[in-house]
Amino acid sequence: MRHNHSERDLSGDVDVNPLFARPGELRSRPRTRLPDAPMLPETAYQLVHDEAMLDGNARLNLATFVGTWMDSQARKLYLEAFDKNMIDKDEYPSTAAIEERCWRILADLWHAPDQDRAIGCSTIGSSEACMLGGLAFKRRWQEARRAAGKPADRPNLVMSSAVQVVWEKFCNYWDVEPRYVPITEEHKTLDGADLKSHVDENTIGVVSILGVTYTGMYEPVLEVSRALDEIQRDTGLDIPIHVDGASGAMVAPFLQPTLEWDFRVPRVASINTSGHKYGLVNPGLGWVLWRDRDLLPESLVFKVSYLGGEMPTFGLNFSRPAAQVLVQYFQFLRLGRLGYHEVQKASHDVARYLADRISAMDCFDLWNDASDIPVFAWRKAAGHNPNWTLYDVSDRLRMKGWLVPAYPMPDNLSDTVVQRVVIRNGMSMDLAANLMRDLQDSVDYLDRLKEPLPDVERSVFHH
Ligand SMILES: Cc1ncc(COP(=O)(O)O)c(C=O)c1O
Repeated sequence: MRHNHSERDLSGDVDVNPLFARPGELRSRPRTRLPDAPMLPETAYQLVHDEAMLDGNARLNLATFVGTWMDSQARKLYLEAFDKNMIDKDEYPSTAAIEERCWRILADLWHAPDQDRAIGCSTIGSSEACMLGGLAFKRRWQEARRAAGKPADRPNLVMSSAVQVVWEKFCNYWDVEPRYVPITEEHKTLDGADLKSHVDENTIGVVSILGVTYTGMYEPVLEVSRALDEIQRDTGLDIPIHVDGASGAMVAPFLQPTLEWDFRVPRVASINTSGHKYGLVNPGLGWVLWRDRDLLPESLVFKVSYLGGEMPTFGLNFSRPAAQVLVQYFQFLRLGRLGYHEVQKASHDVARYLADRISAMDCFDLWNDASDIPVFAWRKAAGHNPNWTLYDVSDRLRMKGWLVPAYPMPDNLSDTVVQRVVIRNGMSMDLAANLMRDLQDSVDYLDRLKEPLPDVERSVFHH
């Protein structure tokens, strides 16, 4: 056994603090090899707990979209159900029924023209949900092409250059050519301009993002749909839209109810959201819905046993936690439309307050103003003190416990660095006022520098 008292370099054994001072208590454990012998659960717990303690504080993590606050009753439900497997529909029929109730609630919330024709399922998050939406596009396009005796080997998917990485993954994993429409200063989102030059007979669909990850801005789904209507008139191509509403699909119904982005737009075939973002559930839950079951090719659906019969399933995983689905239903019951409105409005008010305060600072210019989801980004004002960058602001804030990432915009805007905050349930006005104080202190400190901070190579923030 290697003792690392002299090394202290985190490459040797894990040092066991003899906290419980029991005779014979071990002093170290191998770090990257399964230990030979068991240890007391209290000691193992303390070791893991102490190391995890070094993570950032989740509530102060303004980089993530993922929920970090829940009622204690939701936590209780979660603990009661953490051992249930979502795939065991036959063994946990009540949970399976609740899952169906949840996606039906979403079908109604997103204005499916006929709730009984809609179809949906839960997933581990929006990533899996996006993959399923993309797969349905690809299979439907292939089946239609083959039926027409045309080649079906070069599918492409059209989307903004600011899509979340899952769409790059989808194209990479399933051999689909990604066609990115670059965002620019004039077109900060995919808004239908220039779509014509990106689509053709091999286009399986267009992705519209409701809540662009980089900035929180909504893409105008209706305008994209109108541009596709025009393309259809000119070329006969009937190209469907998938709305990636990872965040916005759980915000827009409550804060911008008249905005038409969902199944009210006939061209929208499918929508995904993350239950674990503004759906207000802890990590591990997404949803995907199709406006009509005919849009989900039968050839993608598998059957599992359920109440002596069979139940259709569509998913990339087999085993998956079920507790989040129960927590989602809890949130739907507990909050209702009004409660969701209140929660999202509170986050929105905080985001708008921060955006106002930050726009009033000479050193920053807003990229957007949090009028869509409670998320916004800003950049450094041109010509302001060259001794520091937004990466330095990020570092200073980290010293106070706040995680506020800085990162470059996508490809053809990659010279533009922005900083972004995601305001979620649990970020009170009071905490926001503290953040503003710490941001102002950080800038005051940086503005007092006598010379530029060294420019170091940084690991890039991933969306
Ligand atoms: C627009 C968008 N799509 C997809 C995802 C992936 O979602 P998840 O983390 O739920 O897998 C994200 C995550 O931030 C997102 O912002």
